[in-house]
Amino acid sequence: MNVLVQPLNRVIQVEPGANLLEALQAAQVPMSYSCMAGRCGTCRCKVVDGEVLDGGRDQQRPLEANDAYVLACRTYLTESCTIEILEPGEVVVHPARIVKATVTAIEDMTHDIKRLHLKPAKPLEFSPGQYVQLQFTPDHVRPYSMAGLCGDGEFEFHVRLVPDGRVTRYIDRELKLGDLVRVTGPLGSAYLRRRHEGPMLCVAGGTGLAPILSIVRGAISEGMRNPIHLYFGVRSPRDVYGLDWLAPLQRAHPALKVHVVVSSGGNSARERCGLVTEAIEQDLGDLSGWRAYLCGSPPMVEAATQLARCRGVAPDHIHADAFYPQGN
Ligand SMILES: Cc1cc2nc3c(=O)[nH]c(=O)nc-3n(C[C@H](O)[C@H](O)[C@H](O)COP(=O)(O)OP(=O)(O)OC[C@H]3O[C@@H](n4cnc5c(N)ncnc54)[C@H](O)[C@@H]3O)c2cc1C
Ligand code: FES
Repeated sequence: MNVLVQPLNRVIQVEPGANLLEALQAAQVPMSYSCMAGRCGTCRCKVVDGEVLDGGRDQQRPLEANDAYVLACRTYLTESCTIEILEPGEVVVHPARIVKATVTAIEDMTHDIKRLHLKPAKPLEFSPGQYVQLQFTPDHVRPYSMAGLCGDGEFEFHVRLVPDGRVTRYIDRELKLGDLVRVTGPLGSAYLRRRHEGPMLCVAGGTGLAPILSIVRGAISEGMRNPIHLYFGVRSPRDVYGLDWLAPLQRAHPALKVHVVVSSGGNSARERCGLVTEAIEQDLGDLSGWRAYLCGSPPMVEAATQLARCRGVAPDHIHADAFYPQGN
């Protein structure tokens, strides 16, 4: 049985029933992966021709009418087929691990946003924009996105306290300096594409600023010169935070333009009012050739995804991390 791997135009031989990711790895095809369990979306690829046994859909990326995407780690080969791997030039391999980390700082950023710093007992490699699962106790586990870079030596997280939120209430009321947290990851496919040379649209809603900061910090530290248009949407003026970090980034990278947009209770003489998507619509025209990184609340991410598509961003150049509630 043969698998034709595009765009590399390589044919690999596989046994019926082989796992697609393992077959690609055995043939040394450049392929991103992380969790190996159908959770992170990193190993997504497209079935162009033929049938495969699909053991799990990519939850991170609901697929309209197009059903052709699969997660390679959950896919088994039953007949010869053609697979398109996505972005072979942007491969990211950080096998997900579990490390223990110690809480070294808990700071108030706004009335309902806390910044946590965790020092891992062992280094954990990740790409800018990825997230991890934080387990504070066996009953308090949630995903949070890193705001810093892998070389920082500590993880930085921004956590918005959700009214009646089980885990954020624990973080607010019980978590203290010196506590141990189990960190599992990294996860997520909305990581910085380092080879891209065109403009970048970075849209953060609320604590979606954390992964967006990581992406911008990563781009600057990699010496990328791309124009970066960062839109930071918040509900009201008191939800704005992080401007003190953005200002030095702008000095280091003059092609970084930052727009803070307040959706309600703002004063148009003082700040930009409305939805982030309205601001983007007003400011930017055709976005062909751009990459979009969209992080934060699901409705904002959905609206920004639609807008980016309508304005010409290729679907595979839209990298979105919606902060879906996890339940239990
Ligand atoms: C990939 C990923 C990355 C994430 N990164 C971050 C991050 O960097 N920072 C961050 O603050 N959060 C992030 N989240 C969200 C986070 O994982 C939790 O869902 C959030 O902290 C709420 O947890 P909780 O247990 O306190 O609330 P829950 O007990 O799970 O929920 C309580 C109630 O609040 C609602 N709710 C839950 N979350 C939200 C929300 N965000 N907005 C509005 N209502 C909500 C629920 O539907 C429910 O009704 C991320 C989520 C995902 C999937
Ligand atoms: S490696 Fe396949 S979904 Fe995570």
